Amino acid sequence: MPDTALPPVARPIRGGVHAALQHESAAGHVTGAARYIDDLPELPGTLHAAVRLSDKPHARIVGVDAGPARLAPGVAVVLTADDVPGELDIGAVMPGDPVLASGLVEYAGQAVVAVAADSMMRARAAAKLVEVYYEELPAILTAEQALEAGAMVSPPITMARGDAAAAVSAAPHRLTGTLEIGGQDHFYLESHIAYAIPRDDGDLLVHSSTQHPSEVQHAVAKVLGIPMHSVAVECRRMGGGFGGKESQPAQIACIAALLARATGRPVKFRLDRDDDMLMTGKRHDFHVRYDVGFDADGRIRGLEMDLAGRCGMSLDLSNGVVDRAMFHADNAYFLPAARVTGHRCKTHTVSNTAFRGFGGPQGMAAIEHVVDEIARSLGKDPLAVRRANLYGGGLGGSPGRDTTHYGMRVSEPDLLAELIDEIERSSDYRRRREGIAAFNAANSVLKKGLALTPVKFGISFTVKHLNQASALVHVYTDGSVQVNHGGTEMGQGIHTKIAQIVAEEFQIDIDRVRVTASTTEKVPNAPPTAASAGTDLNGHAARLAARAIRNRLTDWVAGHCKVGAEAVMFRDNAVFAGNHAMGFAELAKKAHLDRVHLSATGHYTTPKIWWDREKGRGHPFFYFACGVAVAEAVIDTLTGEYRFPRVDLLHDCSGSINPAIDLGQVEGAFVQGLGWLTSEELWWDGQGRLRTHAPSTYKIPTSRCLPEDFRVRLFDARPNREETIHRSKAVGEPPLMLALSGWLALKDAVAAVGDHRVPVRLDAPATPERVLLAVEAVRAAAKAAGAA
Ligand code: MTE
Ligand code: HPA
Repeated sequence: MPDTALPPVARPIRGGVHAALQHESAAGHVTGAARYIDDLPELPGTLHAAVRLSDKPHARIVGVDAGPARLAPGVAVVLTADDVPGELDIGAVMPGDPVLASGLVEYAGQAVVAVAADSMMRARAAAKLVEVYYEELPAILTAEQALEAGAMVSPPITMARGDAAAAVSAAPHRLTGTLEIGGQDHFYLESHIAYAIPRDDGDLLVHSSTQHPSEVQHAVAKVLGIPMHSVAVECRRMGGGFGGKESQPAQIACIAALLARATGRPVKFRLDRDDDMLMTGKRHDFHVRYDVGFDADGRIRGLEMDLAGRCGMSLDLSNGVVDRAMFHADNAYFLPAARVTGHRCKTHTVSNTAFRGFGGPQGMAAIEHVVDEIARSLGKDPLAVRRANLYGGGLGGSPGRDTTHYGMRVSEPDLLAELIDEIERSSDYRRRREGIAAFNAANSVLKKGLALTPVKFGISFTVKHLNQASALVHVYTDGSVQVNHGGTEMGQGIHTKIAQIVAEEFQIDIDRVRVTASTTEKVPNAPPTAASAGTDLNGHAARLAARAIRNRLTDWVAGHCKVGAEAVMFRDNAVFAGNHAMGFAELAKKAHLDRVHLSATGHYTTPKIWWDREKGRGHPFFYFACGVAVAEAVIDTLTGEYRFPRVDLLHDCSGSINPAIDLGQVEGAFVQGLGWLTSEELWWDGQGRLRTHAPSTYKIPTSRCLPEDFRVRLFDARPNREETIHRSKAVGEPPLMLALSGWLALKDAVAAVGDHRVPVRLDAPATPERVLLAVEAVRAAAKAAGAA
């Protein structure tokens, strides 16, 4: 090595951890240069797929006439369940999801027949020619009907502490009630798609828009009856996933693969929006029942709660989803005695699935509604009741109140009190509350509401084996670095963050690091990118792989320069050892010439987590991510229409790897949550047919739905107490639940119609129609109370 203090290339690195960089594909996203699967050049001979969907919710298939479809122009093949060479069932956790319906349909929208033709329009036209003959069977459509009929996709479980029933009865006050919480379509901009390409020896490459390439690989191998080593699944990026591409892409990829197998030609299967919404699972809607006992301060003494999720026709991921609703039935509040029961209702509707928050939002909506009802029944500001119930000893809490109803200690029990103090001050909550009271007293048509809500969300998969990740890092002889990891990019910025972590490890500029498409050929057996744990898991794995190479390079430099390894330092795009220095590229080249291995894998497993589902006890999360929100709403009591003039968010992103991306995650998650709770209404008719299956009838939020004054801040005051990657906190899902503040602000505005003296029922989504009905109900109740 040259004897210089600084090699010519030495300068501070650009884009290590904690740098606020733009997303690695930001320019490509806006110019259109970023390629999605439908943008890949089509190989000669490519066929296009379409499916014939059931229009019955529950029926026996008594016959299929595919003759006219087979004869239609351009059609290469028509397949039914009988043509599947391997296993028919692709259920993610348990059987129950046939790739094509066999003998029975269990929801309107279920795929019965698959067609491949030489163009997409011809494939879709041919699919319409297929006749399916049914013998209809009785259908169960709602969670309430399923509860009554005892129809479940898996047995109920309970998480309990103490004698909740006795605590509720003995409490000075008691409230019982029910609540309906709607589901949500993912509405990713890129609908489901797979492109299956035959390779040598019957092997297959499948491009799949998936959060879980390994699961797609597994399912494709299963339906084709071939080993997993014969199937490669690749995903460069998704145009959004939001949980909807965790288990659902398997069916799309399997249909493409079956058609490719049958024809020996590449097959692309891209769903149009209507088919995507009809065929694939959504956020679970929930029916909630509660019975709560509390004291004069609104402090909960006991809670009994039943959370009934509409799972649809199969189990899919519903055990985990309903479990997570139960885990988050406390949100931020200490429940001294609780009995929370989760029901997994089987209905003849599409099988519901993962969606940002994974049941957590529904559990939190339930407890936030309960806390709100307690406050209204006592004539208190809901914030006072929220504070009284917080975990921890801070402000209103008392020491020892730090263990959840499933026995996990909350390691930062006072964090939320601190965040609430901060946002109460910065949002000017007190003064605005008074201003709103004065506004409401002076206005009879417009009414305003305000709500401050906390979020505490558990980070980790609650299924232990999913909490692992692997990565593969190569250093090339020009000093550029390639990273492959088991995570997938869906817009959340995982590749940017992981490039930052690897750049930091080698102390090189981020543009020397390239994260490649996710592929089962480079990183096998990966869990889904989900549970907000993508960067936590894969970031650690990538750092371990990079560190293994750096350690080898350190030993080589130490030997070469005749110094101890501790004297070798990577910094400023270079390596330093005593008086010696060398640029990173030169180091890579020289080390390679001296036969140092410049490639390594890393494997990470999350520590400290365990969960005993039978006993309802354990430590299912590595840590909690927290946040607080203050939302102000104004409603028109004549039409039910509303606006959100101001929203303040403060989200805990301790040790953020990339504050620019995290800020975007907080904003985006909030708006997606507000869509769920306000405008996005899934509506099935009496025949079990989803009638809101396009943007004409299903209203996602647009830029006009943003709060007029939107103040979003990251709370980055201290690093994570746990040894997460660079002490950061996961951010993908938790801020979605900050939107509960918007729903409760609407409820507060409706309550103002009755001068906060009568109870309010406002189910989610709080569409203008529901707000109007709630206003009418409050008016009638206030009138009746006045007359009595
Ligand atoms: N952000 C964008 N832009 N697109 C998405 O599909 N999915 C969310 C969140 N943020 C999503 C997103 C969901 S559901 C999860 S679980 C996390 O990103 C997953 O990524 P992470 O674990 O890498 O944060
Ligand atoms: N979110 C939260 N928890 C989970 C998920 C998810 O998407 N998938 C499995 N466990």
